[in-house]
Amino acid sequence: MYEDRSEPAVPAIPAPLFNTVPQQGKNWPYGIPPRRVAMDTAAGDALALPDYLVKHYWWAYLWRPAVWFFDHQPIINTIVFGQYRKLTENTVRLLHPSQAGSTLMIASAYGNVITKAAKALGDNPLTVIDIAPIQLERAQVKLEKLGLDGNVTLTRMNAESLAYPGDHFDTAFMFLLLHELPVPSRRKALIEALRVVRPGGSLVLAEYGGFTKSHPFHRVPLLRWIFGKAEPFLPSLWHTDLDALLTECGEVTGKRVVCEDKVWMLGGFYRVWRYRVEQV
Ligand SMILES: C[S@@+](CC[C@H](N)C(=O)[O-])C[C@H]1O[C@@H](n2cnc3c(N)ncnc32)[C@H](O)[C@@H]1O
Repeated sequence: MYEDRSEPAVPAIPAPLFNTVPQQGKNWPYGIPPRRVAMDTAAGDALALPDYLVKHYWWAYLWRPAVWFFDHQPIINTIVFGQYRKLTENTVRLLHPSQAGSTLMIASAYGNVITKAAKALGDNPLTVIDIAPIQLERAQVKLEKLGLDGNVTLTRMNAESLAYPGDHFDTAFMFLLLHELPVPSRRKALIEALRVVRPGGSLVLAEYGGFTKSHPFHRVPLLRWIFGKAEPFLPSLWHTDLDALLTECGEVTGKRVVCEDKVWMLGGFYRVWRYRVEQV
């Protein structure tokens, strides 16, 4: 069970990784071999790579050749069945970027979602956290290329224990993160997201939709098996009522959520939902 995080002890906010020392991004030793990264990191360290990431996703997010391979627009678009543009456009639109205020992106992502968000947010500051240095390095390279790094802070942090005080951000969003987290981590990450968004602010979630009996990708056993192999925690998200989970997580933080907008893609296989966060 989870400890009540309604009044969490929040450590000092760590210095941003890259904006202050841009060249540092070029020299990160992480990426190969991923398992060595995990061994090098002290146990219990808040910055330790989570076990699920090292065990199930090293090949996708930690191994440098794979990071290079996947971070190409056609590749990432193929992985999401041609829905990448719709997913990112809907995510950015539901951020209501001109009024988003100080915005937190919880976990980096491949493709141009970060640069799209940074561009749309304009003067609204964007903070991106990720636990994997190589992912922050990629984000920095993409932002720098487009001259968008000025208003973005990249910080190494675990989504399950954000080092920000409560109500620190106006808006937070997760782009295809929740389905990659085991159930307890998913719950912790949502509790943390709700904790750091101020009452009146918003949380935007881009994710796989819930399981249906009619969608071909859900119905065909072979496809279900492939999805389950590639994304071991996706089936648990398919069978989770996201509204109910957020309500439960809100209770832990003394907040409640009101779903304001639901956008579906690929017949409900993907979704982008926007929640308003309120004080109970
Ligand atoms: C947000 S998902 C994005 C997946 C999607 N396929 C994409 O790239 O478009 C993957 C990212 O989440 C990060 N991540 C996973 N667990 C995390 C955690 N507990 N805290 C912070 N970042 C995490 C990984 O390092 C990786 O960069």
